[in-house]
Amino acid sequence: MPDRIMTTRTAREPRVPRRLPAALATAALLVLLAPPGRAEEVGDAAAGRELARQWCSDCHLVESGARGATDYAPPFAEIAGDAKTTEFRLRAFLRTPHDRMPNYALSRDQTDNIIAYILSLRRR
Ligand code: HEC
Repeated sequence: MPDRIMTTRTAREPRVPRRLPAALATAALLVLLAPPGRAEEVGDAAAGRELARQWCSDCHLVESGARGATDYAPPFAEIAGDAKTTEFRLRAFLRTPHDRMPNYALSRDQTDNIIAYILSLRRR
């Protein structure tokens, strides 16, 4: 009996090398499909800019050259330029209530997008 099993295995042997490339291809595909590593960037800055124009521009200068904002709310470019500003701090700020700023029920995506937009102003 053991002899027969051995024989059967030998006959199947070519299958092993045939499966290996498929596994490698799958692994390569997973690597290709994985999102690119963007350490500091979250969200979609273009969508965040639209949100900022609609919801934040009454008080903040949300883009350079914009007019009509108040002088008591810091311009977004200034917030972005502050060395203390990080994704973490912005997220914490936007999650907590503030006296002179309305409380927005921003979704996670909206928060990400607005943070991405504010941080994008830093590199200009
Ligand atoms: C009604 C006016 C008003 C609106 C609308 C408003 N803000 Fe503000 N915001 C303020 C004021 C005033 C401050 C400064 C408050 C403070 O320092 O406590 C502020 C501060 C901030 C800060 C912190 C700045 C810092 O120094 O770190 C962030 C970030 C911010 N706002 C983001 C936003 C975003 C994003 C929106 C739109 C979704 C928005 N604000 C809409 C009035 C407003």
